[in-house]
Amino acid sequence: MNSPIVIFVGLLALIGTGECIPDELKAHIMELQKICFAEVGSSEELVMKALKGESLDDPKLKAHVLCFSKKIGFLDAEGNLNISTIKEKLKMVFEDDKKVDEVVVSCAKTEATPEDTALSTFKCFHGSSLFIERYDYI
Ligand SMILES: *[C@@H]1O[C@H](CO)[C@@H](O)[C@H](O)[C@H]1NC(C)=O
Repeated sequence: MNSPIVIFVGLLALIGTGECIPDELKAHIMELQKICFAEVGSSEELVMKALKGESLDDPKLKAHVLCFSKKIGFLDAEGNLNISTIKEKLKMVFEDDKKVDEVVVSCAKTEATPEDTALSTFKCFHGSSLFIERYDYI
């Protein structure tokens, strides 16, 4: 569970299936995933495998993480974090705006590469109180 990849795809799966997510956002996320599957050559199977702890080092999976982060607007084209977009999307999912702000401030950190930035940010979100409280069965 410490792999950022597992955490990321777990997050994706949860966002994609979570009952408290607005339908519009859910559909948008699934659409972005499909675009990334096509662009990167990743697949739903690959994501599902990663969820089970397999294929974690697959470069296509890593590329998928980065692709999705850019498409959803968490990272811009240059790989810089867009804090306001991250907050906006998370607030569509979580009710506690103050907590979202706190988590984003502590999690959204620029790393050496855009890929690392995306992975470490998702990893941190996943370990945050927001996600643990919502998804305590992980
Ligand atoms: C973040 O993304 C939003 C929506 O695309 C955009 O309007 C805004 O200018 C971006 N902010 C930065 C700092 O890039």
